[in-house]
Amino acid sequence: MRKLLVTGGAGFIGANFVHYWKEKYPDDEIIVLDLLTYAGNMANLQGLERESDYRFVHADIVDQDAMTSLFVEHRIDTVVHFAAESHVDRSIHEPDAFIQTNVIGTHNLLRAAKQVWLDIDNAPSSHRFHHVSTDEVYGTLGRDDPAFCETTPYAPNSPYAASKAASDHLVRAYHHTYGLEVTTSNCSNNYGPYQFPEKLIPLMIVNALTGQSLPVYGDGSNIRDWLYVEDHCRGIDLVMSKGTIGETYNIGGNNERANIDIVKDICARIDAVFEKHPEHAEAYPDAPAANGTPTESLITFVKDRLGHDWRYAIDAERSESELGYAPIESFDTGLDRTISWMLENESWWRSVTDGSYRDWLETNYD
Ligand code: NAD
Ligand code: DAU
Repeated sequence: MRKLLVTGGAGFIGANFVHYWKEKYPDDEIIVLDLLTYAGNMANLQGLERESDYRFVHADIVDQDAMTSLFVEHRIDTVVHFAAESHVDRSIHEPDAFIQTNVIGTHNLLRAAKQVWLDIDNAPSSHRFHHVSTDEVYGTLGRDDPAFCETTPYAPNSPYAASKAASDHLVRAYHHTYGLEVTTSNCSNNYGPYQFPEKLIPLMIVNALTGQSLPVYGDGSNIRDWLYVEDHCRGIDLVMSKGTIGETYNIGGNNERANIDIVKDICARIDAVFEKHPEHAEAYPDAPAANGTPTESLITFVKDRLGHDWRYAIDAERSESELGYAPIESFDTGLDRTISWMLENESWWRSVTDGSYRDWLETNYD
């Protein structure tokens, strides 16, 4: 039985990972550590209500003492590190929190892990620090460039990407210098349930349902490689169970799409769902689809993101051949699942975006 610390476990991917892990390894003990920033919501862990499902620690990874005590108190032997500031646009406007959490916070966790796992006597016999990172550390690609592989040189372009690159280097250094048993995964764009509606796919769905414009940056030609979040969780599991200590693995969806095509695809799917299920018109009267107007009419081209990376694409060959990784969900089924989930979970996205979740939080957490 492992004692797993999941940092950022109330965020989008972290929460999906906790759901995934609890189902696959019900005997493992899970400690969810999260600061509950705007992006972290206890509601993301709904359905895991039994006391044995997980223990929650409300803390900041920037707080070094709290991190060391946590490792000692809970006798953690495995860390899966998701906690981060994750939105590129926010990093452009306010980079400080990205440096604090992604760089200093990651270093604090590594330092706590080293202290407790390597420097004191009754350390757990085996340990693992798995670091969850991004393909953005590799920079941007042109149309004909080969996809990013594990040996692609780092060339981060946004403050977010630079902070994640720094954290990746620290993880590597703690292995090389001190022998900490680490693995790292670099993944492409995720989508699915519980994604905060500031990222492209959930933002477009929420705006389409509420009749707000669909802001496409620049000319919409930028390309991302999309992966359903459960496939990412499965990939991390494979890296943790079969990956070589000290190595990094790329995880992707083999699914490159231009932003404008994604937005148009979402619009068409929403139109079709409203046509098939007229009851949605009652629930979402402000959606153009509620009165037969094409959702595409909401698309608005807006000023481009500063330093906007043009194309990301992951070459996951190493994960495929060494770990047996392959995404299961197709984009077609994954996007339908995501739209259905958003239609069925209006209270979730309203509460995380309109602030009412914060009121609940204040009465339940200090
Ligand atoms: P998210 O923003 O949805 O969640 C981040 C979580 O971290 C939140 O719950 C937040 O409260 C918590 N957090 C933030 N600062 C903290 C701090 N100082 N101390 C403790 N907790 C803190 O992010 P996500 O999309 O779920 O991404 C999770 C991880 O995966 C990140 O490391 C990100 O870089 C990486 N990643 C994301 C994607 C993607 O497409 N979303 C792709 C590849 C890699
Ligand atoms: O590639 C992995 C990364 O994917 C993760 O490391 C990040 O945490 C995650 O946020 C994501 O970064 P992106 O910047 O690619 O994702 P985002 O959803 O913000 O934007 C996707 C694309 O859509 C990007 O080209 C910008 C564009 N976009 C985004 C928003 C929010 C728009 O055109 N309009 C929008 O309103």
